[in-house]
Amino acid sequence: MRLARLMKVFVTGRIPPEGRAELAQAADCEVELWDSDEPISRKELEHRVAGAHGLLCFLSDRVDKKVLDAAGPNLRVISTMSVGVDHLALDEIKKRGIRVGYTPDVLTDATAELAVSLLLTTCRRLPEAIEEVKNGGWTSWKPLWMCGYGLTQSTVGIVGLGRIGQAIARRLKPFGVQRFLYAGRQPKPQEAAEFQAEFVSALQLAAESDFIVVACSLTPETKGLCNGDFFRKMKKTAVFVNISRGDVVNQDDLYQALASGQIAAAGLDVTTPEPLPTDHPLLTLKNCVILPHIGSATYKTRNAMSLLASNNLLAGLRGQPMPSELKL
Ligand code: NDP
Ligand code: DGY
Repeated sequence: MRLARLMKVFVTGRIPPEGRAELAQAADCEVELWDSDEPISRKELEHRVAGAHGLLCFLSDRVDKKVLDAAGPNLRVISTMSVGVDHLALDEIKKRGIRVGYTPDVLTDATAELAVSLLLTTCRRLPEAIEEVKNGGWTSWKPLWMCGYGLTQSTVGIVGLGRIGQAIARRLKPFGVQRFLYAGRQPKPQEAAEFQAEFVSALQLAAESDFIVVACSLTPETKGLCNGDFFRKMKKTAVFVNISRGDVVNQDDLYQALASGQIAAAGLDVTTPEPLPTDHPLLTLKNCVILPHIGSATYKTRNAMSLLASNNLLAGLRGQPMPSELKL
C-alpha cells in the first residue's frame, strides 16, 4: 500500500493552543514550528520555508519575493495570523497562484476596545497622572492641574470606517459624541448611517475633528497619509490616535506637531519601526502615549486568530473554501 505524501507546513513561531491543536490533528500535514516567542530571523525563515506547501506567518514576517523564492514551487497557501496583510508581497503572491488566508472579524472587538482605551488614556493624560502620584508631583487638588479633553459633545473623525473603524465609533457613541466624520476611498452610506457619520476628505476630517482615530489598512495610498499638512490642519486641542499601522503616519511630522503644541496629544498602538527604539524622540514627549502593538492582545482573541489561521491554512491546502480568504 502506498502512503499519501504529507504536505509540509511551516509555522514561523509559537501560536496559541487552539490553533496549535488544530494543526496537530491534521493527519495529512507534517508541521514544523519555529518554537519560539521571538520572531524568526530572515535567514532562518528562508531556510525553513524551503519546500513548504503551506506557511503560517505573523505580521512581523515580511513575506517578499526572496522568501517566496526560498519556499519554491510547492508553496500553495500563506495564512497570516493577522487581518493586516501589508507585510505580504501580494502582487508576487498572486502571480504565483498562492492562496492567502487572514483573520478579519475575530479581532475587531478587542482592537476597538484597545483603541477606545488608548484614546481615553491619551486625552485624559493617564500615564502622566499616574507618574505624578508616584513621583510626588501630586501636592494638592488644583483647578487646572492635569486637565485634558473629554468626549462629550465632541466631533470624532475616523480614518477608515471599516470593521474596526465602525466598532470604535459604536463604542464611542455612548460617550456623548455629537458628530462623527469619516474618510476613506468612497462614501459608505449604509455603514455610516448607524453613526450619522459624514464622509469628508482626510484634510477636512483633520480640520474639524476633536479626536481622530486612524483605523485604515496600510496601502500605497494610505502610507504617510497623516503628515505635516494633515497635522497643520488639526485643532491645537485635538487628540490623534493610530491603531492601524505605523507607516500611515509620518512620525517626524507627528513629533514636530506634538513638540510645538500644534496638536494636543497622540496615542499610538503602532509605530515604525516596531519595536520603536527606546531612544526615539517620540518617547521623550509627555503628550505622546505609545503602546507595543497590543490591539488584538486578549487571550480569547489571539486563540481565535490562531484557530482561524490554522483552519485557513488547512482548508487552502486541501483545496477547500477557506473560512477567511483574501481576494487577490
Ligand atoms: P477593513 O478592511 O474592514 O477596513 C479597512 C479600512 O481602511 C476601510 O474602511 C477602508 O476604506 C480604509 N481605507 C483603505 N484605503 C483607504 C484610504 N486611501 N484612505 C482612507 N481609508 C482607507 O479592515 P479592519 O477594520 O478589519 O482592519 C483595519 C486595519 O487595522 C488592518 O488592516 C490593520 O492594519 C489594523 N489592525 C491593527 C491592529 C492592532 O493591533 N493595532 C489589530 C487589527 C487590525 P473603505 O471603506 O473606503 O474601503
Ligand atoms: C492585525 O491583525 O493586523 C493586527 O495588527 C494584529 O492583530
